Amino acid sequence: MCGITGYVGSRQVAPILVEALGYLEYRGYDSAGIAVLHDNKIDISRSIGKVSSLKFLVQQKKVEGQIGLGHTRWATHGQPSEKNAHPHSDCHGKIVVVHNGIIDGHMELKKVLENEGHIFSSQTDSEVLAHLIEKYYDGDLSVAVGKVLKNILGSYSLGVMHVDHPGLLVVARHQSPLLVGCGDNENFISSDIRAILSQTRRIIFLEDQEMASLTAKDIHIETIDGKKIDRKPHFVEESLEQSEKNGYDHFMLKEIFEQPTAIKRTLESRVFEDKKSGLLSVDMGFDEEEIKNIKNIVIVSCGTSWHAGLIARRYIEKLCKIPVSVEYAAEFRYNEPLIDRKTLVIGISQSGETADTLAAIREAKKYGSRIIALCNVVGSSLSREADRTIYTYAGPEIGVASTKAFTCQLTLLYLLALDLAYKNKQMDGDEVSKCIMKIQGITASIEKSLSTENLDKIKHISCKYSQSRNFLYLGRGSGFAIALEGALKLKEISYIHAEGYHAGEMKHGPIALIDKNMPVVVLALKGRRYDKILANIAEIKARDGKVIAIATEGDDAIVELTDEVIYVPDVDRFMTPLVAVIPLQLLSYYIAFQRNCDVDQPRNLAKSVTVE
Ligand code: F6R
Repeated sequence: MCGITGYVGSRQVAPILVEALGYLEYRGYDSAGIAVLHDNKIDISRSIGKVSSLKFLVQQKKVEGQIGLGHTRWATHGQPSEKNAHPHSDCHGKIVVVHNGIIDGHMELKKVLENEGHIFSSQTDSEVLAHLIEKYYDGDLSVAVGKVLKNILGSYSLGVMHVDHPGLLVVARHQSPLLVGCGDNENFISSDIRAILSQTRRIIFLEDQEMASLTAKDIHIETIDGKKIDRKPHFVEESLEQSEKNGYDHFMLKEIFEQPTAIKRTLESRVFEDKKSGLLSVDMGFDEEEIKNIKNIVIVSCGTSWHAGLIARRYIEKLCKIPVSVEYAAEFRYNEPLIDRKTLVIGISQSGETADTLAAIREAKKYGSRIIALCNVVGSSLSREADRTIYTYAGPEIGVASTKAFTCQLTLLYLLALDLAYKNKQMDGDEVSKCIMKIQGITASIEKSLSTENLDKIKHISCKYSQSRNFLYLGRGSGFAIALEGALKLKEISYIHAEGYHAGEMKHGPIALIDKNMPVVVLALKGRRYDKILANIAEIKARDGKVIAIATEGDDAIVELTDEVIYVPDVDRFMTPLVAVIPLQLLSYYIAFQRNCDVDQPRNLAKSVTVE
């Protein structure tokens, strides 16, 4: 993962780099560092922990200079330590490198370089790059970088500086994101738009196997084989305002509360009213001929986005009668998938930078399948590699635990299913319109779930159970996917072991775990499986387990059967996942809060998982 940034111009570089790293921190936060070139010397400042520690160090040192590189790290090779923090340099401290990605076979490369006399000072794969550039350097930095990149395998977004070229940054990308920000007599690089949005809105996206040489006045782009590329900058309109906490204690809480607005925005991007008939319809850009040719759909994604895929399968199969499989992106390319030109592959990803999801869609392309990306970040790698992108308009999601992106994904996947069903002649315009009206009403139901009364109840339950060592989450149907999502939310931000399980599978093993110390969160919403869920609740209570039920408003009887009840509004069966997940997000948030955990930046995690 990791985030990189860089600047060349006439302003003091250190504050610019540190500010950008603050925005990139979501990509990794176990250490951070900057390198600044000044007076023929490169000064490196690195510190373990978050960017705030680096900021303090840089202010103390009064780092000066007008060209530099920065990095925030999520450890892959070598533990989080100052030595393993970037930037890394060559043997003589003349070349520095910041790198996001993984260099394949770096151990062998390191051995060869050590035999040639190079001295390594870290355990990282990235340091190999600095020594390789040193080896190939013959007076022209970009030629040396190009030679190295042609001789290595793996993924990289890379920034390089050399003392002999005091006004030059050489950067490159392959399978890790990198963009160039164009200023007036100054230029920037970054892993992500938002990190440099306060400086410039003119952005050039680099593609795989491209490199750029940046001076304050010039940007020269070429492939690593030396083919010149002429690319104009995009003007980016995204607002930075959404990246502030606006009075909330954490981004996660703010993002939970933003869900009604985010869903509304997502709906508005795709829903239209027919002026003549007054019917609502949706257009995802498919044409009828295209849909006729779809034999099956494969969804590839990871984590929370994979949970959205599980629910999407129900939407699509039930409404459009097209078979869907939902694959872990990390497994997909190793499974010799049974797909072809008649398979529609949908990659779901909030960030659009998840390495496994990108690898999965690249694999699918080899079979000739059509690729649709469902993505939140405009201009991300996934959106650029897919045949077409359908955006969720959740706005920037900063908290590592995904919340509003998930509910926006569900919203869009439901609309996608409606569009396919209509064009596949499984639903008529009237039916589609009624379904759209129902999903439009979901924002009011979510607002209700976020009422003060509900929050107080969830806070109370959180206090009661925050010291539990384990949690079980059970559900059936789409409630099973929500149970998985609830358990993931809890474990990632509170470090409590939590397991999501199909309620019907409990008796095949996990029931052995139940005793008086085991809180079990049960998705017990009214619907076809309700009686079965009540039977599961009885089985838990018979073994002294503590049941926290997520139940449908008006279900008074459930109070007697359980220890705690959190009600959600009674909504259409396709929409229950959207309301049921809200109390689970809040429960995990308040438990993590009680336990004094770092809610927005939990240990060992990063927002975009850009390594496989
Ligand atoms: C959990 C979470 C992760 C992501 C996963 C995929 O709260 O955020 O499980 O869902 O890393 O990320 P994207 O959707 O960016 O591909």
